[in-house]
Amino acid sequence: MKHSATLPNITNFAKSDVYRSRIHDLIPGGAHTYSKGDDQFPIHSPAAITHAKGVYCWDLDGNKYLDTLMGLTSVSLGHAYEPVLARVREELEKGSNFSRPSTIEHEMAERFVNLVPGHDMIKFAKNGSTATTAAVKIARAYTGRQLVARTAEHPFYSYDDWFIGSTDCDLGVPDSVKSKTVTFKHNDLEDLERMFNEHPGEIACVLGEPEKWQEIEPDFYKKAIDIAHKHGAIWVMDEMITGFKTDYPGSIKRLNAEPDLATWGKGIANGFSFCALTGKKEIMQLGGINRPGEPKLFLVSTTHGGETHSIAAGLATMDVFESEPVIQHNHKIGDHFINGLNEILDRRGLQDYFDIMGFNWSIGLGIRNAEKQPDLDYRTLFMQEMIKRGVLYQGILSPCYSHTIEDIDYMLAAFDDSCVVFERALEDGYEKHLVGPSIKPVFRKFN
Ligand SMILES: Cc1ncc(COP(=O)(O)O)c(C=O)c1O
Repeated sequence: MKHSATLPNITNFAKSDVYRSRIHDLIPGGAHTYSKGDDQFPIHSPAAITHAKGVYCWDLDGNKYLDTLMGLTSVSLGHAYEPVLARVREELEKGSNFSRPSTIEHEMAERFVNLVPGHDMIKFAKNGSTATTAAVKIARAYTGRQLVARTAEHPFYSYDDWFIGSTDCDLGVPDSVKSKTVTFKHNDLEDLERMFNEHPGEIACVLGEPEKWQEIEPDFYKKAIDIAHKHGAIWVMDEMITGFKTDYPGSIKRLNAEPDLATWGKGIANGFSFCALTGKKEIMQLGGINRPGEPKLFLVSTTHGGETHSIAAGLATMDVFESEPVIQHNHKIGDHFINGLNEILDRRGLQDYFDIMGFNWSIGLGIRNAEKQPDLDYRTLFMQEMIKRGVLYQGILSPCYSHTIEDIDYMLAAFDDSCVVFERALEDGYEKHLVGPSIKPVFRKFN
């Protein structure tokens, strides 16, 4: 079945070009996460977004796009989702920051903790990095050990030194910190044992995304967490991306896993800044102030950690997830996209040039060149063609509650049509079709 839709031909990026030419003199990197930077997009793309509603967003030149990554996967219901906005507006009228905790903190703490199987306490944060770094800190304090273990393949856990110092972007991180992070292969019990045996009695915690691009054996986490505990380490499950996506509240339930700590962010407040560290009381209480005579752990302490309207956004988001079939809807959207992609690639004989990765809750796309090798030049070209056809696509679809089957059909039509240019480029080279430079890896040693 050929996917057809009336597709735009977006060519006017005049205001975006002006924005791009100025922003780097004001903001290092031009954005507040490197994943949104100009080096992650073709030149024929929006430099900045003025507003968004549902699954559509608009750029400086008034061009309209179907959104696919949804605020780096943080928008799980839809942009400016009215029931969330209504609750936020109500809260804003009451003030956003006080000299003592606000009562909404208690409401959220009780509700979130009840949602996470096996966890008793919670600490809020404004960013995911703060939550993962807090997990590392409390694990070190609890175990009295210094090393942190993380999965080797997963791209990002924190901009803090313990993580970023273990990537190619390690400039500014002391060697003494870099040497405290070790890695192991995701989803590989043998490699986990190997790592513990190489650092006996030294590893405080193991931190990883519960699932990413591959299927996890049903009993993997039972075995993996047992291994960590046998070696005296804490298991931290980073649900930043999987939370409210694989299941409700996340993979911790879907995979029947019992990590000691978990970190949450992104989709849990529909794009508002509300993140959290949850965990077992035995560990989390170390961050408390009611153990006279015990050493005090300065766990997370931030002026904006209790900002009321972001917490209200979280509560409203939970209301929708609990009263409506959000997870089922989002997975149906993902399945529809995967089926449509396979149909297009089969029909066009392009299966060797695209890798469909992940699951119905997050669908990634690998793009290959004429030699069938993963290639950023061809990836940039494909992004350019999708953007031209009105789809803001970086190679990941993060389905949300506002995506409809019709939206996905539109995206598939844009995909199908973009393949025409891609096929030509396989014949005569991407250079003939790509305008401007190719994208670069986010984590790289040099600019
Ligand atoms: C798995 C994972 N953990 C942690 C983070 C850090 O979250 P934030 O960007 O909110 O600091 C991210 C961000 O992309 C992430 O993907």
